[in-house]
Amino acid sequence: MTVLTLSTSSAATLRADAVVVGVTKGAKGPVVAVGAEAVDKAFGGKLAATLETLGATGAEDEVTKLPAASGLKAPVVLAVGLGEVPAKGDGYDAETLRRAAGAAARALAGSKKGAFALPVEDAAGAAAVAEGALLGAYTYDKGNGNGAKDDKKKNNGPLAEVVLLGGKPRDKAYKAAAERATALVAEVNRARDLINTPANLLNPASFAAAAVKAAKEHGLKTEVLDETALKKGGYGGIVGVGQGSEAPPRLVRITYTHPKAEKTLALIGKGITYDSGGISLKPAGHNETMKCDMSGAAAVFAAIVTAAKLGLRVNLTGWLALAENMPSGSAIRPGDVLSMYGGKTVEVLNTDAEGRLVLADAITRACEEKPDAIVDVATLTGAMVLALGTRTFGIMSNDEAFRTALHETAEEAGEPSWPMPLPTHLRKSMDSPVADLANMGERMGGGLVAGLFLKEFVEDGTTWGHLDIAGPAFNDCGPFGYTPKGGTGSAVRTLVRLAERTAAGDLG
Ligand code: BES
Ligand code: MN
Ligand code: ZN
Repeated sequence: MTVLTLSTSSAATLRADAVVVGVTKGAKGPVVAVGAEAVDKAFGGKLAATLETLGATGAEDEVTKLPAASGLKAPVVLAVGLGEVPAKGDGYDAETLRRAAGAAARALAGSKKGAFALPVEDAAGAAAVAEGALLGAYTYDKGNGNGAKDDKKKNNGPLAEVVLLGGKPRDKAYKAAAERATALVAEVNRARDLINTPANLLNPASFAAAAVKAAKEHGLKTEVLDETALKKGGYGGIVGVGQGSEAPPRLVRITYTHPKAEKTLALIGKGITYDSGGISLKPAGHNETMKCDMSGAAAVFAAIVTAAKLGLRVNLTGWLALAENMPSGSAIRPGDVLSMYGGKTVEVLNTDAEGRLVLADAITRACEEKPDAIVDVATLTGAMVLALGTRTFGIMSNDEAFRTALHETAEEAGEPSWPMPLPTHLRKSMDSPVADLANMGERMGGGLVAGLFLKEFVEDGTTWGHLDIAGPAFNDCGPFGYTPKGGTGSAVRTLVRLAERTAAGDLG
């Protein structure tokens, strides 16, 4: 992964492949941002004019490369747009800096060293630039199709080193910001790698094995229930969804504990390593990216490892509900009734509504341990993508204050999200003549119906939140800001921020 260093050097004298500067949209054309003074000086104060000649406007996500003027050690200047100039005294908000740094890092793929001279005023600004640059530098290392890495087919690799100018390496707050960014982004990128791995190379057993291995490296405890243990334990949802596949299901429990922790959070991830829809098969056009259906489990795992790396004063229990949803002679059929963990029965009306089945078992199981709160993360419904688009996840909860807290937490982390309701009148659309409830109900508001289904499995009195990340988990379009094509690592930063806020006693 890309290395991050803080430096007090001048943008003019640091040796690098490129020096990154910010450019904003002024009233009369592009304006060079704070931090780029030394670079502008080398251009005789004409950097903005030169950029304008090249067509730069300072718009967000705009990247302009130009040869450096003499007097600069770096051969290339990369100007990245920051949008409108912030109102006096406001400074750039963290997300603007993150996105600009990400766009610049993407444009430097294949280079060794990028020196970032963006407008950083304090440790929070440094954190944003560091996070954005490291997130934007990510590239998925393509294998050769059977799992072995083949050098010839490698892409040209990520930007190898990010140097943050104005970084104050001796200042405690800056150092902590750099360490946090490095730990956090390494884990967001771990989630992205897991999501991008094709389903023929990542199944429930190999996901579980990868999690156990990585957990051990960070001193985390794990327990894995295999298909035999799941059957014996009565996990009808996970067993039912997994029974159509040659690759059997798993339930992984990961624990991170801190000796001085006062709160315990349970994090649950939907881990469908491939969602074909099962017997209710998805049509072509809807199944090509369904390797991403384990993004929730990847996010939960990544967040717990980050918490361990940062030594957060909180206890976390992660639950990865892993299964592959396939049609076969042994698969569950529409109309089957499953006996779930804890004894509730569910009529499976649509085998493509599988996520809620594996999550229901995990939620019931997690409630037994009486955590202070439960949050599940899932690529749960196409309906949520229709409602909120591809960049915003939906938040549901049985507690309005907790839903608001989750929304604020996501905002702090730089992840777009929106609170959604759980209207009780939709519950009766899941009534079943043969079971306690059906796994499908009213089509309108399908994301909320799915949320109401999950709520049925939350023990009374347990605070629970649900993040439906079906939109932002996987980016089918071109990359933007610090978001690559493919797996995005959606929700990792929100979960880490939630763990930090819980550790700090910020949440109830
Ligand atoms: N994994 C899908 C949801 C999804 C859709 C994720 C698009 C990412 C992008 C989920 O298992 C699913 O198939 N949901 C169904 C539920 C329906 C059958 C009630 C859906 O949303 O269509
Ligand atoms: Mn499905
Ligand atoms: Zn699914």
